[in-house]
Amino acid sequence: TGGEQARLKQLAAERALELVEPGMTVGLGSGSTATLWIKLLGEKVRDQGLKIRAIASSDDSEKLGRSYGIPITTFEESPSLDLTVDGADEVAPGLALIKGGGGKLLREKIVASASRIFVVVADGSKQVEKLGKFPLPVEVIQMAEPLVSRELRELGFTPKIRTNQDGSKYITDEGNLILDCSGILMDDPAAIAAKLDAMVGVVEHGLFLGIAKLALIAQVGGVVERTR
Ligand code: A5P
Repeated sequence: TGGEQARLKQLAAERALELVEPGMTVGLGSGSTATLWIKLLGEKVRDQGLKIRAIASSDDSEKLGRSYGIPITTFEESPSLDLTVDGADEVAPGLALIKGGGGKLLREKIVASASRIFVVVADGSKQVEKLGKFPLPVEVIQMAEPLVSRELRELGFTPKIRTNQDGSKYITDEGNLILDCSGILMDDPAAIAAKLDAMVGVVEHGLFLGIAKLALIAQVGGVVERTR
């Protein structure tokens, strides 16, 4: 149920809070699970004087962090991060991930890649044997969308432009479109990632391969730690 899932997300977020140490520069993920972690972290900063700095993966997470008084820094000031905690839409063996269900994949990947340790927090429903049941989000430059959509169809995907509730096109924090790509259960995500990386007009995609070091998966029996 939704309530049970929320409780599990909270458990994963609590466990991830234990990884934060004073003096760290941390990356703030995006989405509902990362939000729970940011709130716990923010309470520690606000109520217990924990000294950290943060870089956020979305405007929403930055706003939330600031509301608790978490100091926000930049890559100019802090070129590398000690720890980033973020959610995922799918977690496969080897900690291969699909992210971007919330549309924040571009900055999420930048922040995750700049982190010494990238930790995924998720409830057990996100675990899969093969990636791709969850449509893969691909961020594209607006004018290139028809060209990229055609190339994606040639790969076997069924791309769909993400829309808002009112039917208008969803625009990312950086002003691009998202194509949600369904239709492929991925045997070889690295090969697909390489093809997407080579497509002109694609800004970034939601395959996070070789980036996560640890996943904290909350199940009914407790939080399970998965490593690569
Ligand atoms: C945001 O763009 C995503 O990558 C999220 O991390 C992902 O969608 C997981 O979100 P939830 O924690 O809300 O399930």
